[in-house]
Amino acid sequence: MSDQAARGLMAGASRIVGFTGAGISTESGVPDFRSPNGVWARNRTVDFHEFVSSEPGRVEYWRQKAEAWPAMREAKPNAGHRAFVELHRQGRLLALVTQNIERLHQRSGLPADIVLELHGTTTEAECLTCGDRITSDEACRRIEAGERAPRCRACGGLLKPATISFGQAMPLEVMARAQEAAETCDLLLAVGSSLVVEPAASIPRLAKAAGARLVIVNREPTPLDGIADAVVRGEIGVVLPALVGANG
Ligand code: APR
Repeated sequence: MSDQAARGLMAGASRIVGFTGAGISTESGVPDFRSPNGVWARNRTVDFHEFVSSEPGRVEYWRQKAEAWPAMREAKPNAGHRAFVELHRQGRLLALVTQNIERLHQRSGLPADIVLELHGTTTEAECLTCGDRITSDEACRRIEAGERAPRCRACGGLLKPATISFGQAMPLEVMARAQEAAETCDLLLAVGSSLVVEPAASIPRLAKAAGARLVIVNREPTPLDGIADAVVRGEIGVVLPALVGANG
């Protein structure tokens, strides 16, 4: 299966759902999670249970957040993001389901209402008690000023980046919209994900089971390569524009 097969399938598709992971943002300077120099090579995970039950756990979680935030804030969309904008311009993009949290898809020009953030966003922090939100810039300013695990100024509750941590409930309405998109598309284009995290990785499988073609673009093999109609190995910023006929 090669670029040729993928190009043929893409040319024949009119109701495409994009599914992206951290790999589409590495060319913007945002590290992914499981590559050799990824986030998990340098940080331990703090799951949701530890975050809510341990002050040291919260301090470590926020330390990682404050370290990662400047690169995410300064990052600019790359040719991979722009290829999805081109698909949308062509009227062929039903939805863009993403595991990514830095909002580069929205910043590239995709309408926010078609970007389905399965794992929330790191651009804001949310109080786990009252739901009040502050920007990540404000949260990081407070950390730099010494508040190592910021609390909600409205109710005193725990402030947490508005992402979905391991062990935290998925956003049900977003998941339902992603499942509906997967069941109605004619091609699911999975880009820059290791496809190892559930339930996110169930979305490409659902699309395939519902009769869609599955095209995977990724530097490394994934567990879904065996059910894909085409697998393309390569750098996303080079491969994707060619697949969608974009000018990159
Ligand atoms: N071009 C092509 N592939 C790339 C590129 C690139 N420029 N950069 C990275 N990749 C590939 C990597 O080889 C890897 O297989 O993208 C994949 C990224 O996989 P992960 O780092 O596992 O990221 P992701 O799939 O988004 O992780 C899913 O896990 O830690 C949680 O919540 C986090 O949303 C994240 C979830």
